[in-house]
Amino acid sequence: MPKSFYVTTPIFYVNDAPHIGHAYTEVAADVITRWHRQRGEGAFLLTGTDEHGEKVLRTAIGNNSDPKSWTDRLVNDSWLPLLETIDIANQDFIRTTEERHKVAVQKFLQQLYDAGYIYQGSFQGNYCVGCEEYKNESDLIDGSGEFAGQRVCAIHSKPVEQLNETNYFFKLSEFQKPLLDLYEKNPTFVQPESARNEVVSFVRSGLSDLSISRSKERFDWGIDIPWDTSHITYVWFDALLNYITAIGFGADQQKLENLWPADVQVVGKDILRFHAVIWPAMLMAAGLEPPKQVFGHGWLLVGGEKMSKSKLTGIAPNEITDVFGSDAFRYYFMKAIGFGSDGSFSWEDLSARYTAELANGFGNLASRTIAMVTRYFDGEIPAPSQPSDADNQVQSVALAAAKDADAAMQRVAIHEAIAKIWTLVDELNNYITVQEPWVLAKSDETRERLATVLYTAAEGLRILAVLLASVMPQATEKLWQALVGNAAELADQKITELSWGGLESGTKVGELEALFPRVEEK
Ligand code: MSP
Repeated sequence: MPKSFYVTTPIFYVNDAPHIGHAYTEVAADVITRWHRQRGEGAFLLTGTDEHGEKVLRTAIGNNSDPKSWTDRLVNDSWLPLLETIDIANQDFIRTTEERHKVAVQKFLQQLYDAGYIYQGSFQGNYCVGCEEYKNESDLIDGSGEFAGQRVCAIHSKPVEQLNETNYFFKLSEFQKPLLDLYEKNPTFVQPESARNEVVSFVRSGLSDLSISRSKERFDWGIDIPWDTSHITYVWFDALLNYITAIGFGADQQKLENLWPADVQVVGKDILRFHAVIWPAMLMAAGLEPPKQVFGHGWLLVGGEKMSKSKLTGIAPNEITDVFGSDAFRYYFMKAIGFGSDGSFSWEDLSARYTAELANGFGNLASRTIAMVTRYFDGEIPAPSQPSDADNQVQSVALAAAKDADAAMQRVAIHEAIAKIWTLVDELNNYITVQEPWVLAKSDETRERLATVLYTAAEGLRILAVLLASVMPQATEKLWQALVGNAAELADQKITELSWGGLESGTKVGELEALFPRVEEK
């Protein structure tokens, strides 16, 4: 069996409900997976929740709850529903509190311990609970406001805590050379390029061993260290392992081999080092291959800062989908922000693009074309005759859009892929304006030409439905139903096998409701 294309999202802390920054990561990973599924690569998307550690524990206690009830409630009420809100088609959802995960984490730890990669030592340093990370002095900045005069975490703007404990350490320092070799041998292991450069120079500057346990004297919301149950596993060590515990590490070797190594691991740039440094080193220590690629995307910013619930700048995804729908959410964030760069969200920009690009650009093209087939050909896709230069031009734009979008998706340049596909939306709109089918419809002499023009427009739309299915699954399904009906499944249409002329003349078109209805001013 050929290996399936395997994509992962980070697993999310369940200390609060999701905001659109979290949804952004999910949508990107989902679009990538759906695209590869449409290439016939048996794609598999994993997402889930990161439930252990001090941050989640403190939030649970702060809310007069215990961590188990707290995480159960938040996962069921907020994180699983998020997947519906933004239309994520994941194959699995892992919670780090699940037995399958805990057992496999312990196996992994024991294996590294037996191989001599783990030792006991004492630790002293700064810890940011928000990041669940040990911080170097260079990671800290001067605090302001209530924290003026203190050094604070650059991400959370809150003071770090002094830790002084006896812990178990992972010999990360031994992996400096193997990691540098990996970055050289696989130059696209970390992407985008700016992220790669940052990681390479970080590793070049030297690696310290990593504390991977916490004493239960401090707190015990985590997975026991198998050979010393007075310690629990450091939350990041536990969390990173979800990518293999969910797919059978230590339990189902065949499944593991079918999926691992992951093809693309999507992460926000704030957690890049964990994924591009610590994670591949852990895997190497266990004799497993590193993932093929870790892609660090940018942040959604509010007022120039990372959007976050703790800074009260989070926007709930359904605030947007309730008004514009999930397709528009997915389209907007994937198209408007270069994948890998930071971007700002604004209601004005979203609303303007919704109207111009989705309602007037794509939606109107679809409804006009179907309406004209209905009116002029009794709802039957007409047969084309000899193509003119203009018709040939549409065909070549369509095929180039498919090829260029696929090439962009291979580089995980999602925004570029959509821009390439949009050349076909623009071409078709222009084609209809120039060909004026409503004028051709006035005379019997131009009936043959009218048939060719409407066939060309409808076939262009069929290709658009296939190419946009991964970004806008709902609108494209409606369009597919109207054009092709049940004769074939949209999900089965292979991007790599797209050719002109797939739409059968004589097919009865169905009704098409407005794909992107007018949004009333709120
Ligand atoms: N639990 C860890 C990840 C462990 S993976 C083994 C974590 N969780 S998180 O909930 O804080 O963040 C999850 C993801 O959401 C990260 O990729 C993070 O970058 C992303 N985002 C959180 N806020 C974001 C924005 N404002 N903008 C874009 N992505 C954001 O880190």
